Amino acid sequence: MKKIAVIGSGTMGNGIAHVAATTGFDVILVDLDRTLLDRAMATIDKNLQRGVDKGKITADDKGAALARIRPNTDLEQLGDRDIIIEAIIESEEAKRDLFKQLDAIAGDSAILASNTSSISITRIGAVTKRPDKVIGMHFMNPVPVMKLVEVIRGIATSDETWRRVEEISKEMGKIPIEVNDYPGFISNRVLMPMINEAIFALYEGVATPESIDGVMKLGMNHPMGPLTLADFIGLDVCLAILRVLENGFGDPKYRPCPLLIKMVDAGWLGRKSGRGFYQYD
Ligand code: CAA
Repeated sequence: MKKIAVIGSGTMGNGIAHVAATTGFDVILVDLDRTLLDRAMATIDKNLQRGVDKGKITADDKGAALARIRPNTDLEQLGDRDIIIEAIIESEEAKRDLFKQLDAIAGDSAILASNTSSISITRIGAVTKRPDKVIGMHFMNPVPVMKLVEVIRGIATSDETWRRVEEISKEMGKIPIEVNDYPGFISNRVLMPMINEAIFALYEGVATPESIDGVMKLGMNHPMGPLTLADFIGLDVCLAILRVLENGFGDPKYRPCPLLIKMVDAGWLGRKSGRGFYQYD
């Protein structure tokens, strides 16, 4: 059984732990305190129950998956892991600090992966003594449902590390796609300008949120319209990624819409805050 650790038990981290456990990995899920870990385990339990209710997995499968996840607050326990996947806050400083610590704790052959949606894997790798074993594994939300893992190779990531991560992603039931390390990788380089353009269209009064989303859902077969998707991702996250694109390329085509900036300033962050382009109860 492959040994994995996931650091950060928020939406992405608990989703990655959920998928790893259901596909037979031995998982340690790490966060700063027990309350966060308890909340994450309750979320995983609830999401596994969806599968039980629909007859996709048995109650025994659910129990076995939960038993394969060990919540823990101590990074020092990660010395025997084959791969450690970081899914903490999107702060370059926090990630660099964590990777320095992980480099000292992890076994020599362990891979250190980041679920970052836009921070440079090359810069994260550079703080470790193993940049050849540092890689991006960008899962999509909701992790149990979405097939893709965007695998990002930093400038120093080795072919061997890519091959091992390709294999692990497939063992997790995902489809890995290899991309190089440039701002926004592929997913957010393409997705965020579309979301930003939808916000500009709203800002300029071209159409209502419902109409903008309706056009993209009914006309392009997108499962969610771009404004609904922005609320789902979090408007603060969208703004942060647009800033990475804008600063990384130095190209004004990525400038965030003033309406997006204003909404983030107001604390209207989408679903998680109860209000974004739509109202959530
Ligand atoms: N855990 C487990 N299962 C879940 C789940 C979760 N968190 N959320 C949804 N599901 C399951 C449901 O149980 C349901 O299963 P069945 O098909 O077996 O019935 C299935 O997913 C569909 O869910 P729903 O019927 O509740 O709702 P839906 O059909 O409207 O689909 C959705 C919901 C899957 C989220 C769909 O709207 C969708 O695909 N939206 C687009 C999501 C997307 O684009 N994600 C990427 C965001 S970008 C990102 O993550 C990266 C970044 O860097 C910003």
